[in-house]
Amino acid sequence: MKKNFIVANWKLNGNIQTISNFLNHLRLKISLYLQNNTVVIAPSTIYLERVYNYIKDMNIFLGAQNVDINTQGAFTGETSILMLKDIGAKYVIVGHSERRFLHNENNELISKKFGLVKSLNLIPILCIGETETQKKKNKTKEILTNQLNVIFQDFGEKAFINSIIAYEPIWSIGTGISADPIYVQSIHKFIKDYINKYNSSDIEKIIVQYGGSVNSKNAKNFLEQPDIDGLLIGSASLMYEEFLKILKISNDILCK
Ligand code: 13P
Repeated sequence: MKKNFIVANWKLNGNIQTISNFLNHLRLKISLYLQNNTVVIAPSTIYLERVYNYIKDMNIFLGAQNVDINTQGAFTGETSILMLKDIGAKYVIVGHSERRFLHNENNELISKKFGLVKSLNLIPILCIGETETQKKKNKTKEILTNQLNVIFQDFGEKAFINSIIAYEPIWSIGTGISADPIYVQSIHKFIKDYINKYNSSDIEKIIVQYGGSVNSKNAKNFLEQPDIDGLLIGSASLMYEEFLKILKISNDILCK
């Protein structure tokens, strides 16, 4: 049965107190909303284990926001995929636009991270998306296919099995300007068809979620679209009331 895939990307936010408060509130209600949702919390690296200890009996999953391409050794300040697996992470976000732009991560590096996550049987959440200028120049599809092609080139036609794609148009992240759900639907269909060309047998299993200024007011409009399989939520995922509202909306849509 289809479930919506809902991820809270907390980015560089939170502290021990706010995280405890959030998760204590989540615990009270979460079981009501898990029938039709797979829920992932992706805190900052330093709080990963703390969050895991809270959520491990809640049927929700731990996600990391980033990983290094090296697994061990003299790489000061980095986090290894072995460590993420060791402490209970199941998902790893790779290629978020904030990493692409603020930390100069290119498609080739991101592809390496994608492969590394999969090689340890964790699940990568690959973020792809276009800038405002690229959208205005009608380059969205070209940009997205470039971002997907490098993964196909490195890992072959079955590259996207056991992985998630997050379509995050960069102009909508953190701006309060969410994309038009009909537009997002058309892009998700394009992404699925593109992957399907290489790998038609597994198309049903491909999860493409949307991210960019999602909140409890617009979540329903996205999740009603047939090819929007979930949400990657930034600022609205920091407030437990808002996050729970979105989970309820998502759960109810699939109950219909
Ligand atoms: P906002 O929901 O704050 O726009 O962030 C989206 C995002 O980047 C999630 O990864």
